[in-house]
Amino acid sequence: MKVFRTIAETKAYLSEARGKGATIGFVPTMGALHQGHLSLFEAAKKDNDVVTASIFVNPIQFNNKEDLKKYPRTPREDIRKLEEAGCAMAFIPDVEEMYPEPVVDKYDFGYLDKVMEGKFRPGHFNGVAVVVRKLFEIINPDRAYFGLKDYQQLKIIETMTRELKLPVEIVACPTMREPDGLAMSSRNVRLTPEERIIAPAIYRVLSQIKEKTRKYSITELENWAVHQLNNYEELNVEYLEIVDAETLIRPGDWNDSESMVVCTAVHLGKVRLIDNLILF
Ligand code: PAF
Repeated sequence: MKVFRTIAETKAYLSEARGKGATIGFVPTMGALHQGHLSLFEAAKKDNDVVTASIFVNPIQFNNKEDLKKYPRTPREDIRKLEEAGCAMAFIPDVEEMYPEPVVDKYDFGYLDKVMEGKFRPGHFNGVAVVVRKLFEIINPDRAYFGLKDYQQLKIIETMTRELKLPVEIVACPTMREPDGLAMSSRNVRLTPEERIIAPAIYRVLSQIKEKTRKYSITELENWAVHQLNNYEELNVEYLEIVDAETLIRPGDWNDSESMVVCTAVHLGKVRLIDNLILF
């Protein structure tokens, strides 16, 4: 596997591959790779001739300095896992390479980036949009792979790609879960053994919401779920919302939308976990 630190080397390598007619699949990551990421590489391998990755802990998408500092970094293991996953090239730039000048770009995704994660992590999605667009320009992939775990991020990237007519197909991949239901996340390694036992409660409650869909009003169900989670002394729900799966607008009634998703962010000790489940 080729590992490049510079944009110039990455572009040169990929233009040669493209010159030979190869299709390019791309998985952008912030490293600390786990099975969830590896499933994206599996999907990318099936669809493309060449699979590429980036590892870049993007500072401008962290609204909290402590979170950025504590974000797990496991570069050696990551490179080994990428090799094993059949990745042909990894672009691993430093901050200077990505942002030689201060970032001034401002995106506005209307409602999509104002609610839920957008509300509680101001500036987060602008940072995501800036880095993903820049990575797309460098890699110029035919397809890029994102997990449904970061549901709102996925909707924003789909919208950006559509609105800016970027020539890349966005492929959404299912959330990978531990056997007890906890959504795989790089942040899970920061849970204490005691917290790790409690964490699956999040998915359990989301699954119960799915079972109870339409049997109660949306508000009743949201309130019930928040109560269930906050009943654990260690859990603190930041938001839990049942929203339209495309617009992320909260409908008044189950019949107001063709597809709905429940999204939540929950603090467990010092770790903030997010999860979601498509209800219908
Ligand atoms: O989902 C992530 O890991 C990041 O937000 C992404 C898409 C790699 C951008 O930094």
